[in-house]
Amino acid sequence: MVMKFDTRYPSIDDLRTRAQKKIPKFAFEYLDGGCNEDVNLFRNTSELREVQLKPNYLRKHHGSALKTRLFGVEYDAPFGIAPVGLQGLMWPNSPEILAKAAFEHNIPFILSTVTTTSIERASELTEGKAWFQLYHPTEDKLRDDIINRAAAAECPVLVILCDVPTFGFRPRDIRNGLAMPPKMTLSNILQVFGRPHWALETLKYGQPNFATLKPYMPKGLDLKQLGKFMDQTFSGRLNEEKIKPIRDMWKGKLVLKGVASEYDTEEAIRLGIDGVIVSNHGGRQLDAGQSTVKPLSIIAAKYGDKIEVMMDSGIRSGPDVARAMASGAKFTFMGRSFMYGVSALGKKGGNHTISLLKTELQQVMEQLCCEKTTDFPNHLIK
Ligand SMILES: Cc1cc2nc3c(=O)[nH]c(=O)nc-3n(C[C@H](O)[C@H](O)[C@H](O)COP(=O)(O)O)c2cc1C
Repeated sequence: MVMKFDTRYPSIDDLRTRAQKKIPKFAFEYLDGGCNEDVNLFRNTSELREVQLKPNYLRKHHGSALKTRLFGVEYDAPFGIAPVGLQGLMWPNSPEILAKAAFEHNIPFILSTVTTTSIERASELTEGKAWFQLYHPTEDKLRDDIINRAAAAECPVLVILCDVPTFGFRPRDIRNGLAMPPKMTLSNILQVFGRPHWALETLKYGQPNFATLKPYMPKGLDLKQLGKFMDQTFSGRLNEEKIKPIRDMWKGKLVLKGVASEYDTEEAIRLGIDGVIVSNHGGRQLDAGQSTVKPLSIIAAKYGDKIEVMMDSGIRSGPDVARAMASGAKFTFMGRSFMYGVSALGKKGGNHTISLLKTELQQVMEQLCCEKTTDFPNHLIK
């Protein structure tokens, strides 16, 4: 087995532990936490790990390939980088580090509306391969402008979000003053002093800001005004009236993220959406909700031939990707795993995390005698 990663960190958990030591507590807790009592957060991984796979040791094996086709594109692995907001808060310049690593490894990178790199920059770094996730603007004019920018930047896929009709209730962020409206407390400032590498990198790259939204934001907003601006500018609850004009306008592939029910999948198909990401936002929105692997199995079995069914939430390893694919996902995404990697290892973190996951997944495929990623469901123990 060729190890193309730093062997001191051979698991996502190692990266998480290192990240916790490298970045201020308020930033780590924003990344790491779920919502309410974190039930959904842990359920995502624990129920995914109940999925078991069957090897066929004596079958003739011609080699295992991670390459996977999605929306007419061949990617080098069946996983991509999920959209994460405020990435520069966790590690300065992290969206750029991850976009570049995704491009070099030929896997999808999804840029969030509310992260700290702009659509144009992400597109430049990935030669037009970055996907873009749109938080729904309240005003049509702003929506159209952002969509036109994504089209001009040649984004192949637009991702819209249905699982944030309202902000998640996240006790850590409330305690740390990161809820809307945010506030910078003395305790947060003191935490920065204990993290000199993070502080120096932050000085180097400057205060993180919402790069895509900058042209629309009044100058010189304090944190409280910023919270109000975000609240007024976006309205998360999606419905038919909001999706239709986007579908009419967007010529590329359109993906609905945050789907967790058959009803929403049927609506997505009816409204002409090309793919769904079965997701619960990494357990950050509905603590009483199901883990994603449960609805995934049902949705993939029922609608997998009508719409591309992808999945995220709770994936922390190559075997986890295999479990999700065996349960019917055509493709998978991860949010925290990559952010732990980059928070732990800075500019080496993107490459490290992708290489680690590829190595693990390759090992699982060879162990199972699974030659193509589309063959994973044949190994599922039902
Ligand atoms: C810190 C953080 C911020 C996030 N911000 C966004 C966002 O701006 N837009 C979005 O669509 N999803 C966002 N998500 C959800 C991720 O895209 C993804 O669904 C989730 O991280 C998957 O779960 P995992 O972290 O267990 O892999 C965020 C997740 C985290 C952890």
